[in-house]
Amino acid sequence: GDPVGETKVGFAAKYPALVTGFFFFMWYFLNVIFNIINKKLYNYFPYPYFVSVIHLFVGVVYCLVSWTVGLPKRAPMDSNLLKLLIPVAVCHAIGHVTSNVSFAAVAVSFTHTVKALEPFFNAAASQFILGQQIPWSLWLSLAPVVIGVSMASLTELSFNWTGFISAMISNVSFTYRSIYSKKAMTDMDSTNIYAYISIIALFVCIPPAILVEGPQLMQHGFKDAIAKVGLTKFISDLFWVGLFYHLYNQLATNTLERVAPLTHAVGNVLKRVFVIGFSIIVFGNKISMQTGIGTCIAIGGVAIYSYIKAKMEEEKRQMKAA
Ligand code: 3PG
Repeated sequence: GDPVGETKVGFAAKYPALVTGFFFFMWYFLNVIFNIINKKLYNYFPYPYFVSVIHLFVGVVYCLVSWTVGLPKRAPMDSNLLKLLIPVAVCHAIGHVTSNVSFAAVAVSFTHTVKALEPFFNAAASQFILGQQIPWSLWLSLAPVVIGVSMASLTELSFNWTGFISAMISNVSFTYRSIYSKKAMTDMDSTNIYAYISIIALFVCIPPAILVEGPQLMQHGFKDAIAKVGLTKFISDLFWVGLFYHLYNQLATNTLERVAPLTHAVGNVLKRVFVIGFSIIVFGNKISMQTGIGTCIAIGGVAIYSYIKAKMEEEKRQMKAA
């Protein structure tokens, strides 16, 4: 790897901030499109386990084609690295399926409001799993996040427990993913790493999809979808949703390579603000006043939390330097 980018020449070396900004923009853009196609698909084909498999499948085909043409060149895999990547991929798979169970069950805006709690889960994991002391000021800053999400949930018009609980499980799962990712830091570039994670996660997702949705899909799931929109649209929706899923996640991983984890986590919450806004406009979801205010309080809370945490890390750095 070349984290400092010293060997990069030309535009990218001259304007690193602009390039990073472009990565964020593409990540958000692809994610908004993904969320819209994905929800439109669930509106006529409510099979999130199967669709999760398709997301990963299209991504894996994309990676295999990319490797074949050498863009990027495939990085070699060995059993040690594989052992490190398996837990990351398993958490990626569980978080992915549970996010999608939630997307299918409730309004997209509500899933992302619950998923805005992810930094809270990360803080809890640092303290209770990794044993790092989290100062009370940081915990306090998370109070508005919890209060905001609770307010939003209580009056959410599309609320149901499946949607809420599965989004919460995805928070736990993605928190474990970030813990295992830290242990799996290697020299391999982020595009190659994400390709391997996709392949492993695909295998993890197939058995539950067959068990949970296999019989219904065979009996009437596919037939109903094709009767509603036609075979061509059904297949093209599955293809595009998979491609956008893969590309936004690859961009997210590439962005993580360029910025600190905290910046990335904050960026991820900001991404949800865009998705919440766009999905409300596109789907014309009605949201109650309390849900709107709760969502804003939660997002504001994440901003305060991030600010305090960034300052703490800055102080730590200065203390080390002194
Ligand atoms: C998924 O399908 O895995 C979800 O879109 C994950 O959502 P996130 O990347 O916004 O956390």
